[in-house]
Amino acid sequence: MKAKILAVGSVLAAGAAAQQSLWGQCGGIGWSGSSNCVPAAICTSYNDYYYQCIPGPTTSAGTTRTTTPATTTTTTTTSTRTSTTSQTTTSSITSSRTTTTSSRTTTTSSRTTTTSSRTTTTSSRTITTSSGTTANGSCPTNFVSTSGKEFRLEGKKFYFAGSNAYYIPMYGPNDFTDIDAALDAFKNSGLKVLRTWGFADFVGPQDDYVTVFQNWSTVPPVILSTQERGLPRLDRVIQGAESRGIKIILPFVNNWAEYGGIDLYVERVLGGSGNHGDFYTNTQIKNIFKNYVQTVINRYKNSPAILAWELSNEIRCAGPRLGAGSCTPAVTTAWAKEISEYIKSIDPCHLVAVGDEGFFNNPGSSDYVYNGGPGIDNYALTALASIDFGTFHMYPVPWGKSWDWGNQWIKDHAAQADALNKPMLFEEYGVTRSTGLRDTYHQQYHDTVFANNIAGDMFWQFGTTVPNWGKSYDDGYSIYPADTYQWKTFVVDWAAKMATKNI
Ligand SMILES: *[C@@H]1O[C@H](CO)[C@@H](O)[C@H](O)[C@H]1NC(C)=O
Ligand SMILES: *[C@@H]1O[C@H](CO)[C@@H](O)[C@H](O)[C@H]1NC(C)=O
Repeated sequence: MKAKILAVGSVLAAGAAAQQSLWGQCGGIGWSGSSNCVPAAICTSYNDYYYQCIPGPTTSAGTTRTTTPATTTTTTTTSTRTSTTSQTTTSSITSSRTTTTSSRTTTTSSRTTTTSSRTTTTSSRTITTSSGTTANGSCPTNFVSTSGKEFRLEGKKFYFAGSNAYYIPMYGPNDFTDIDAALDAFKNSGLKVLRTWGFADFVGPQDDYVTVFQNWSTVPPVILSTQERGLPRLDRVIQGAESRGIKIILPFVNNWAEYGGIDLYVERVLGGSGNHGDFYTNTQIKNIFKNYVQTVINRYKNSPAILAWELSNEIRCAGPRLGAGSCTPAVTTAWAKEISEYIKSIDPCHLVAVGDEGFFNNPGSSDYVYNGGPGIDNYALTALASIDFGTFHMYPVPWGKSWDWGNQWIKDHAAQADALNKPMLFEEYGVTRSTGLRDTYHQQYHDTVFANNIAGDMFWQFGTTVPNWGKSYDDGYSIYPADTYQWKTFVVDWAAKMATKNI
């Protein structure tokens, strides 16, 4: 039997006389709460929809400062992109990675939850345990930085093996046992860097266990900043990573439909008239996205657990439901420039990446992954001054390639790291268990990564078993400790081998 937790009182109902806590909302379109901040915080406008209490001079509460971070207005030339057939192959990848509600319901149905143990406190919202001296007078040395094609940490090389476990912030409700258990397992594996979802966009009522960071029942959406099912779960992940020495890569929106996605933004703001490409150009959508981005960043901007903010998971011109419209690689690149510059204006010390799949945009190529077909130009994206490193993903057979071709894709991006003198992170790849080829190709890819000095390697994805939810969702790509040979060879030993480059 699943017990319901009681409805959470809305923070938006705060009386006009109340003082909003540090990082709390204090104004914006649709806001009916207080515009006063606690002492030593000042109400600041980031955009029309969101004013927030940020640390500021001790003045009389309620002072409002309207400093809008600099953003760049970019003019882009658009041309109609021809649609491609490869869209179908990619949707099969993404659907295979979907965590279905039904499977989650099954795993959680045996749980009992008590409402009495749930308390939401605003004090858990800020994580400011950054320590250490600063590298250049302004950024802490325990933040990851880059030097040429390599990452750096505490003044040393930082080559690493990591993995994806998108699901860790999705664990709930009501206690953080599963989040902590998953982070313990990650730490014990020897993997250094965890990529997990920094987005959870939903419409309407959701069952208690569903994590919701933005409630899109209204436009603009409501950010669940204090409710247990909201950003406090992400707080627990970041805090837990920090105490365990794990570094986090956090994307802010999905190209795909899992946990909301770009199509949801477009559908909610533009209704039936929108297309996926509008996400990158529509001002209202961009303001809503920036508001979410700055809310998350302001919670963790002092945390050394953050390796990088990532604009997206796998942006493309087209999505699972909506078409590209007039989107081109120039449009997605202009968007990435605008958003990454916005992030740097809020937080100049953490690294920023795009989280794209690494598709090239080479004139004359007839090959979808090399000719800009998905609406991505990995070279142009990575070359942006406000982007610190490049990313690439790889699903050869689902992309219509051979498993052997994967080695070439890795080398292509190693060459790009040379050309741009920035790190290229191999951030998602995998071979499903059912192919029977996992051992062969994980080994080959690792050898290619190592020989070509790829800066970091993160397979899709880390599998674990936690007390309440049980075994993490198995999309066929997951590697669990029970996969004895793969776990030792491609997780534990591989993490140790990548670290040998750091001497
Ligand atoms: C989202 O907001 C709507 C409308 O206020 C509400 O009915 C729904 O329960 C909310 N959902 C969540 C998950 O908070
Ligand atoms: C220190 O590094 C940050 C982040 O890269 C940068 O914004 C800042 O300008 C640097 N400061 C100096 C004094 O170099």
